[in-house]
This record gives sequence, C-alpha cells and structure tokens, in this order.
Amino acid sequence: MNKVYVTTAIPYVNGAPHIGHAMDYCLADVYARYRRLCGDEVKFQAGVDEHGNKIFQKSKELGLPVADYVKENAEKFMDFVEKLGVSYTDFIRTTDVDHERRCQEIWRRLSDHIYKAKYEGWYCSGCERFITQKEYDENNGVCPDHQKPYEKLVEENYYLRIADFKDQIRGAIESGEMSVLPEFRKKEVLKLLEESPDVSVSRSVEQLTWGVPVPDDDSQVMYVWIDALSNYITILGYPDSDISEWWPAAAQFVGKDILRFHAIIWPAMLIGLGLPLPKVLLSHGFVLADGQKMSKSIGNVVDPIEVLDRHGLDAFRYYFLRHVDTFADSDFTWEKFEDAYNNELANDLGNLVQRLATLAMKNDVKLVEEPKFEMDAGYVELMDKFEFSKAFDYAWDKVQNLNKRIDEEKPWALAKNGETAKLQNCLRDLICGLLNVNYMLSPFIPGTTEKIFEIFAGGDIKPPRTPLFPKH
Ligand code: MSP
Repeated sequence: MNKVYVTTAIPYVNGAPHIGHAMDYCLADVYARYRRLCGDEVKFQAGVDEHGNKIFQKSKELGLPVADYVKENAEKFMDFVEKLGVSYTDFIRTTDVDHERRCQEIWRRLSDHIYKAKYEGWYCSGCERFITQKEYDENNGVCPDHQKPYEKLVEENYYLRIADFKDQIRGAIESGEMSVLPEFRKKEVLKLLEESPDVSVSRSVEQLTWGVPVPDDDSQVMYVWIDALSNYITILGYPDSDISEWWPAAAQFVGKDILRFHAIIWPAMLIGLGLPLPKVLLSHGFVLADGQKMSKSIGNVVDPIEVLDRHGLDAFRYYFLRHVDTFADSDFTWEKFEDAYNNELANDLGNLVQRLATLAMKNDVKLVEEPKFEMDAGYVELMDKFEFSKAFDYAWDKVQNLNKRIDEEKPWALAKNGETAKLQNCLRDLICGLLNVNYMLSPFIPGTTEKIFEIFAGGDIKPPRTPLFPKH
C-alpha cells in the first residue's frame, strides 16, 4: 500500500466561496478517491489562507475585528468542502498557532538564503504579488485580473534569493522529478523561472500587520505567500516531526493563476529546507461564466450553493468534472448545466438504472455472487495522466454503450419468447457491465454510484422509488 498525499490551494477568506474554488477541491477529491480504489492510503489536505492585506482591508471595510471576520469566512469554506463531498482528511487555517510557529521555524531554516534590501517597485494587493517593470509596462500599469492600478511600493524588506535555486528547479521540472501539468504550462513556468528576480518575502508592519511576524525583527511580517505555501508541510507537523511518511506530495492541485508561486517560490523553499519536491504540480483552468471571467463588478458571479441546490451534489460534480476540462478554461452556463443534467445524467445514467432494475425485478434476476470490479486499462491510463475529464468521458461512453446494448439485445423480446436462460444471462451481463462502469464513475459521483451499487449488488433488485435524477 502506497501512502499518497494530495493537496489543494487554500483560498483567501475575503468573501464566501465561489464556483471557481470548487475546482481544486473536486479535482483533488477525484484523485484521492481514485488512489483509494487503487488500494493506496491517502492523506488529503484542505484549508484556508487567512492573512494578508486583502483580508485585513475587507474586515476594516466591514467594521469587524479581523479575527472574527476570518473565522466566519473560514467556516463558510469548511461548510463548502463538506457540501462538495470532498473526502479530505485534514483542514488547516493559517491562523492556527501551530502553523504560525512552524512558519517562523521554516523562516529561520531558510535564513541563509534570505537577505534584507530596499524594494522599490510595483505591487498588486489583489494578487498579493510584486510586479516586475516588464509586466507593469505590458499591462499599462493596471492589473488585468483585478482591474486595479498597481501600487508603488518603496520599503525595506527581506528577499529570498531565488538565484540560489534556479538551476535545481529547472532541472527538476525538465527531468519530470517535479512534473508540471499540463505540458503547455510547464513551458510557461520555465520561462517565468528564467526571468524571476529574487522574491520579496516580507512586508513592513507599517503596510501590513495581519501576518506571521518575521522572527527577530518586529518591523516585518511574512509575505502572505511564504506563510500560505508552508501550509502544505506545517499541516504534516513540519518541522516538529518527520514528514517523510507523506512528503513529497503525490499531487498538488492549483489554479493557473497561482502556478507561478507553486513552481518557483515553493520549490525554492523546499530545496532550501532540504526537502524533496512534489511529484506532480497540476494547474487547472478557470471556470468562466458565459465566456467571461467571473467578477463582482460585472455581476456574473455564480453562487455554488445555488448550483448545488438546483439538482444536488452529483449533478454539480458531474458538470464540473466532465464539462469543465481538467486543464483548459471552460464555461458554466445554466443552460449547459440543465442540458447536462437532463440529457446525460437523467437520460443516459438515470434511465439505464431504471430500465435494468425494472427488467431484473420482473424477470427475477439476482447477482449470485459479489461481482469483481476492474478498471479498464484505458481509464487507468487517463487517470494516471490526470486527464480526469477525459477519463470521465471514457466511462460515460460505456454507460451509453450499455443503453445501446439493451436496445439491440431487446431483453423484453427474449422474455416474450420464453427464452428464460438467455434472458437471465443477458440481464446479468448487462448488470455486471453497469456495476463495472459504476466502479470507474465512483471517484466522480460517489453518492450516485453508492446508490447504484446498493440497488444491484445487495440481493433483490428493485428500481429506486424515485428516479436517480428526477426531471423537474
Ligand atoms: N490564497 C491563495 C492560494 C494559496 S495556496 C498556498 C489564493 N486564493 S484564491 O482564493 O484566490 O484562489 C484559490 C484557488 O481557487 C486557486 O487555485 C485559484 O486558481 C482558484 N480559482 C479562483 N477562481 C477560479 C475560477 N474562476 N476558476 C477556477 N479556479 C479558480 O490564490
């Protein structure tokens, strides 16, 4: 049995969760469930990022003590993770005292690579990121993601000497020791790495008080990314305990906008600490609303709770895991969501279950022995390459094939002609086929696959009292 550690990006708690946040959780959950099917033991981190200017300013705007504000929003995220059926094992808040203390120890251990200097340049508080002059010029001084002018910063702070690590990081990415997925992002990252200056890793307390204090320097707090990235190992107990049982992570899931932090600063920190790099860094695309970036100012932000409430959890997971491509940007529209629900979940899978269970009941078919499940080689290959939406398509083709087979083999005609043995074999074969697909669908829509398993594998077969995906 392998030990597998899976991580998700920790969202800022400067608001309630939106549908984009679901991507890290859902993708990591599919992987975690898949590895468990493979017989592995999985540790699965989720959490929230509670420090930084953005959060501090928002709490002030609302007139709330920042600690209350982050607690309230952290709870919304915990609730969201539960609602998404995410099989996480550990949840971290970056204001946890153990995390803060461990971060300070990490800083101390990196001190050979940290120096103090004056920073004079641009900053985007929306991205919580320092901006190079080249980027500033390319974007005409305005952040394309936040539509806010970059701020001028002049302050003395600490720097992490990225130059100390560049060769090793490049080598690890090129050799696949740390595999950056998808391939086209790997190229982008290698370019960014080449151009990356040393990174400022602290902010002056005059600018920011809401952060982890830099050890032995009251005038500085840690840059939020140093604190946030450390979560992946502080949650395992680093540096208080040996984390080699779980680290390096098998896969870290992040959105495309934050790959740069995970592919440059994070490996630099790990190398500086003498720790191995994650095996896979997977960067997913963005969920767009009707082809546009979701934003509060455009007013097109889709509330995930509304989507969940419309047709339940598995309809949500189905859409975001099959119709949202694992790597590319994809659209969410209510129309597409409704079509997927009615034409695919209800018609393809819901009807298949209903038809087969009704035929089995009428013709007294049971499964005599517990079926043995196997994942098809084609499916395994896609899952191992993290091509989840394609693996989901692969399994769905099988659902559609089973529907076709029923139409072609016409079990009702066999019943009419009294060909009982042939009929029973045909139905048993179809049910085993369904249960096998069900097994491959289980990382994606676990609630539904559990119901299907209970209908067919638990003795007397009866169709469910209400269809699995009722049409409203
Ligand atoms: N706090 C940092 C992450 C620190 S990880 C050590 C952060 N937070 S965030 O709230 O802005 O984003 C959290 C995750 O949600 C990121 O992976 C981000 O890419 C993802 N998404 C935010 N909006 C998204 C979409 N519209 N679509 C898909 N994912 C997107 O960055």
